[in-house]
Amino acid sequence: MEYVFDYLVIGSGIAGLSFALEGARNGTVAVVTKKDKLETNTNYAQGGIASVLGPDDSFQLHVQDTLNAGDGLCHEDVVDLVVRSGPDRIMELMNLGAPFNRGVDPESPFDLGREGGHSRNRIVHAQDATGRAVERVLIDAAESHPNIRIFENHLVLDLIIAHHSIKAGSLAIRHQDDCFGAFVLDIAGQGIHHFLARATLLCTGGAGKVYLYTSNPDVATGDGLAIAYRAGARLANLEFVQFHPTCLYHPHAKNFLISEAVRGEGGRLVDKRGRAFMEAYHPLKDLAFRDIVARAIDTEMKKSGDDCVFLDISHRDAGFLKERFPNIYQKCLSLGIDITRDPIPVVPAAHYMCGGIVTDLHGQTSIEGLYALGECACTGLHGANRLASNSLLEAMVFAHQAAYHCAARLEERRKRQFPNIPSCFGPPAGSDAATSEMILISHNWDIMRRLMWNYVGIVRTDKRLNLARMHIAQIRLEIREHLPHIPLNSDLVELQNLAQVAELIIYCAMQRKESRGLHYNLDHPRKDDAHWRRDTVVSRERAEDGLCAIPAREMGMD
Ligand code: SIN
Repeated sequence: MEYVFDYLVIGSGIAGLSFALEGARNGTVAVVTKKDKLETNTNYAQGGIASVLGPDDSFQLHVQDTLNAGDGLCHEDVVDLVVRSGPDRIMELMNLGAPFNRGVDPESPFDLGREGGHSRNRIVHAQDATGRAVERVLIDAAESHPNIRIFENHLVLDLIIAHHSIKAGSLAIRHQDDCFGAFVLDIAGQGIHHFLARATLLCTGGAGKVYLYTSNPDVATGDGLAIAYRAGARLANLEFVQFHPTCLYHPHAKNFLISEAVRGEGGRLVDKRGRAFMEAYHPLKDLAFRDIVARAIDTEMKKSGDDCVFLDISHRDAGFLKERFPNIYQKCLSLGIDITRDPIPVVPAAHYMCGGIVTDLHGQTSIEGLYALGECACTGLHGANRLASNSLLEAMVFAHQAAYHCAARLEERRKRQFPNIPSCFGPPAGSDAATSEMILISHNWDIMRRLMWNYVGIVRTDKRLNLARMHIAQIRLEIREHLPHIPLNSDLVELQNLAQVAELIIYCAMQRKESRGLHYNLDHPRKDDAHWRRDTVVSRERAEDGLCAIPAREMGMD
């Protein structure tokens, strides 16, 4: 089946839906999402959205906090744009009906929370389930818009790319790729459809599932990163994987975050004897940047041999805790932990990918007609470490930027012919065709996630990275050799994407011979500004088979 829309939005989180609502003002929009429309990383975001709204705050302070977190790699023009756009984007969400907590201070209409690395209270939140509240208002608005159609259970396989050769002088020929949509697997109907579009927006979120322990939901399999890489787009900074310091540690809790806002309200990290330990690691103690807190916990666990540390907020008033953290309170209570009395067992887990598909200030990638928004993008905002609660903000700001850019080009792009589309995929799985070989998928999935956790985790070494590289190469070989015989299905596609992303993370981590932000390598424990104050850019473009790095300077990214 062939569909034609002006805009193809891949992903139904805050980035995709924010774009869809703006894009729908001048064009038709398809939003495709591989599961239920609400099953997104956004939906699980607890903390909130950072923005300058308090009487004691300023754009300069938010900019400076973001730069400090990013450890020398943030792009200052992007930081400035995102921070200054924050209040307008928040007001738009308010106007859509987002139920943000209101403040008692008449000078600040919001109850502003604090998280690690922020020098002021500036986190706009809806209790402790901000993402869920935002996702719902955006979905409601999108569903009732006549120009937007949402396709659930539709998994994007690859992009539809046309290759042009352009004469760029008397002799030189420039090659330009142009994206015209995507091949999409209808998981329920089992057909492969062509979604043709004037602009395509990758809003696929993160890749937390590449690690054994993650705060991310099962959908976070790095699809956008892998798709963009295969299409030849440039990616950057994939070594900077943010590990959230405090995920709930309990055999029956899967991927459950204990928001940093708990530390913002006075929660302290302690070991099993009740000893607070963050003072020994950083003057900001429990509210130090996430890389520092996650490494401190990792060190404490390795020293003691304990399986977890604890986050203790039991000194705060019980009524306040139930009101401020109803979601966390209920979840913990359901597992026998009363946060008003008991310390919460926590461990770090993969949370956020600071690198991604390289974009400009409009969210446009190195491929014409292809944009990347939200966690799958590398806009330059986060640098080597993301400041807490800057992610939803970035997604909204860049959705807005991209919408303007796309609108200005829409008429011209409507005049272009869509390319002839080859049929390049085998048949999708029938109802029971794949079952006998599914073990190949689940086995490789398991070993890859454990490998990444053990060898490419919070603390790295050259040797572990090299071993990880060899193991992943073997896994990718197995996928290439054996899995084409398995009919196409979503598990297979996700495994291929995850393995691709794992390889790219390892590659970027091996390039960076220093420690900076979230990338900590015991063999190169110091920061090396002279050589490494730059992005690690990868692209398929210059290698026949495999990876190549393009210095950031060439990308105009320094
Ligand atoms: C949290 O609530 O701790 C997560 C917020 C974020 O990742 O920015």
